[in-house]
Amino acid sequence: MTKYEEVQQQLSAEPKVWLVTGVAGFIGSNLLETLLKLNQSVVGLDNFSTGFQHNLDEVRSLVSEEQWARFQFVEGDICDLDTCRHVLTHSSAGKVNYVLHQAALGSVPRSIDDPINTNRSNIDGFLNMLVAAKDAKVDSFTYAASSSTYGDHPALPKVEENIGNPLSPYAVTKYVNELYADVFARTYGFNCIGLRYFNVFGKRQNPDGAYAAVIPKWTAAMIQGQDVFINGDGDTSRDFCFIENTVQANLLAATVECEDARNQVYNVAVGDRTTLNQLFQSISNSLALNSVSYCKQAIFRPFRDGDVRHSQADISKISKLLGYKPEFKIQDGIESAMPWYIKFLR
Ligand SMILES: NC(=O)c1ccc[n+]([C@@H]2O[C@H](COP(=O)([O-])OP(=O)(O)OC[C@H]3O[C@@H](n4cnc5c(N)ncnc54)[C@H](O)[C@@H]3O)[C@@H](O)[C@H]2O)c1
Repeated sequence: MTKYEEVQQQLSAEPKVWLVTGVAGFIGSNLLETLLKLNQSVVGLDNFSTGFQHNLDEVRSLVSEEQWARFQFVEGDICDLDTCRHVLTHSSAGKVNYVLHQAALGSVPRSIDDPINTNRSNIDGFLNMLVAAKDAKVDSFTYAASSSTYGDHPALPKVEENIGNPLSPYAVTKYVNELYADVFARTYGFNCIGLRYFNVFGKRQNPDGAYAAVIPKWTAAMIQGQDVFINGDGDTSRDFCFIENTVQANLLAATVECEDARNQVYNVAVGDRTTLNQLFQSISNSLALNSVSYCKQAIFRPFRDGDVRHSQADISKISKLLGYKPEFKIQDGIESAMPWYIKFLR
């Protein structure tokens, strides 16, 4: 039995109370779905700035009525400390055990366009949640960190302790999260774990708008017969991580009891590297398997500010200390998500 199977079994046998911030977003709504399917009680917080009611509606359609009744949603902003305290102290299911903090303004280009609002949600909001969670004495606080923290450090694969200078306001905010979490661990003995996500993808990731991530954006464009643009020469590479792997990492991190594994930052990825040119081919092949053909060539345009050139994670730390074992490689993830994209984006 894998560590993840063991944790799922334990949670099912002894359900807990979770707070998921950013619950109406891509990663938050996938965490919600898994937790409800494991019969957990979940409080969700979101201000719908980049999240959607339709993500919550979709989760509702995928769980039983009884499971959905264990979800309590609060529309509110993490920039308001009282709201953060409220969601932690007014759960109808009792004391919150675990916080999975996902709420933030994502996207490197958005942060370059709007550093003030990015800072507000990602640093002020983060600190509010951290203080509220510490005061509420939750068992653990797991938060979404980011591979952007590696910045201009050239080494590949990326190992947790070797980071460079941030290349965007977004990367600054995510690094500040790590610094605060570390100080809270050392100063207050508060149990925090940071998960440095590497390009997560999967169902319910928003394909629309200027700040959409590459996989949903390209998939939507291909399904709709539109042009696909590659920023740079197409050799830029990423360690694309399917959402189920990310959900696994969150559940392992939140519940880990071994002292050595707590108060750490972990890479969450697969440990592979895929170039944008390869990704283009993979998505179009997977669409073809689903009887959607895309005949155009990709259009190359200049590199984008703030983007790192290559990214690939070393996942030995999370594998060793949390028992993480990514179940989906990029191609498995693309194939698994494709029917959803086709259903929702056609
Ligand atoms: N998707 C990725 O590849 C990736 C990579 C690295 C890190 N992350 C981090 O993971 C987390 C989740 O990302 P996602 O891809 O699901 O993005 P998302 O935009 O789909 O979800 C973020 C959610 O947070 C909510 N939110 C934002 N600001 C808020 C605020 N001030 N108060 C309350 N709610 C607020 C949004 O409405 C949204 O529902 C973020 O912290 C992001 O920075 C994501």
